[in-house]
Amino acid sequence: MASVRRLDGARQRAEEPALPAPEREPEWWRDAVFYEVYVRSFADSDGDGIGDLPGITSKLDYLVGLGIDAIWLTPFYPSPGHDHGYDVADYVDVDPLFGTLADFDDLIAAAHERDVRVIVDIVPNHTSSEHEWFKGDRSRYVTRPAENGLPNNWPSNWGGPAWTLDEERGEYYLHLFAPEQPDLDWHNEQVRDDFEEILRFWLDRGVDGFRIDVSHGLVKQKDLRDEPEPFPLLRFSSDWRTAIDQPEVHDVYRDWHRIAGEYDGDRVLVGEVVFSDQTRVAPYLRPDELQLAFNFSLVFQDWNAEAIRRSIDESLAALPIVTWVFENHDVTRIVTRFGPREARAAALLVLALPGPVFVYQGQELGLEEVDLPDEVRQDPVFAQTRGERKGRDGCRVPIPWARTLPERSWLPQPADWSARSVEAQTGDPGSMLELYRRAIELRPGGGFAWRDSAPGVLAFERDELTCVVNFSADAVPVEHVVLASDDVTGVLPPNTAAWVR
Ligand code: NOJ
Repeated sequence: MASVRRLDGARQRAEEPALPAPEREPEWWRDAVFYEVYVRSFADSDGDGIGDLPGITSKLDYLVGLGIDAIWLTPFYPSPGHDHGYDVADYVDVDPLFGTLADFDDLIAAAHERDVRVIVDIVPNHTSSEHEWFKGDRSRYVTRPAENGLPNNWPSNWGGPAWTLDEERGEYYLHLFAPEQPDLDWHNEQVRDDFEEILRFWLDRGVDGFRIDVSHGLVKQKDLRDEPEPFPLLRFSSDWRTAIDQPEVHDVYRDWHRIAGEYDGDRVLVGEVVFSDQTRVAPYLRPDELQLAFNFSLVFQDWNAEAIRRSIDESLAALPIVTWVFENHDVTRIVTRFGPREARAAALLVLALPGPVFVYQGQELGLEEVDLPDEVRQDPVFAQTRGERKGRDGCRVPIPWARTLPERSWLPQPADWSARSVEAQTGDPGSMLELYRRAIELRPGGGFAWRDSAPGVLAFERDELTCVVNFSADAVPVEHVVLASDDVTGVLPPNTAAWVR
């Protein structure tokens, strides 16, 4: 098979000198601050308006200064880019747009030198329609003969049926996302073997783990039964889909857990398991499966004390370890969801919670969702829903590094992002960036317990600090403030937070 040859060749290269592994604490990920790098929009080293791997390497000192422990790189593999890399055409190489395998090795080495771990995105649910497996015999995909008509009523997450008819081949193929992202058939042993090789390829190159795209989706119900209708319009969470979250998917993660465990340094598997009901995430976190899974419950909440408290309680009760997330490259930024003041308070809230936290690039700069003109939108969600859903481009606008914004940027940066740039915020004690730096530096550890508080106020204790968040319309008294999201003199104004001793 072409793919296996490709892997063998690449493996030989990776067998050259082993990359230095940093000294790691066991379970280093348990309290880590992870930073999501959306590669296309992070740092552009060659002036083409698109971020790349050397760009990331050049900004590692910035990330060290921010205090993060690990970075997650979104897909940088060769891809036609219909879903900006989440349509992978070759799992064991780097897209020339982003650099080379040598650039990747340099990035890993430079990160490890600085004691920063690197996890990479693995996209096992689907490939690109440009992948050789799909251009070839398609035996690795979910297909059905055309003569019986549409195989079932499954909708794509982004509108329209989840099946596309290939008239030439006389068969339908399944795609839970765009038609350019055909779903693999995880009942096929070959697919399992291929991915084991792919994981080893990157583990051999020194990655510290994987973020697994659509982790709950790989294995589909074998008989392809219809889904109950009506379907929800917004399908970020998969609670409604009965065709996925099949028991066999756990065998895949048991295998991957075993493989990762063969390597030194406590490599980590982080699942994108998208249920709003956290009890459905728990089975993925059994001791021999994934170490972490994003907890998206805060993504679904409004800025409201009761809702957020309930979400925290339900997550802590349901999961052995909770991985907190407010933002990523798929959701509206919190400055826009909650408001600028609230977003500062949210920073202190999330960084005081027990367990790992994921911060999305630009969250630390307080970037808002950009209201882009339709003609520059590139997210397939926009095209596939004929503009009914605007899509995710607004949170993917490239990071402003300097006051002088670059001439080229694959999505336009608002002019006032000059004042939000890293350059403008660095050293300004009132900036969002300095708030994140301080909060990551002072991040509390230890147990978690709620404290009594006024209505509309949340207060919880960690080891030596108490986090108080005021969601109410009234100021509340506070003292012994260690860090606050705004000016606090004796009282905590509405929509602010403080860490107090
Ligand atoms: C989840 C990723 O985060 C998202 O960006 C992507 O479009 C879908 N999975 C499909 O791969």
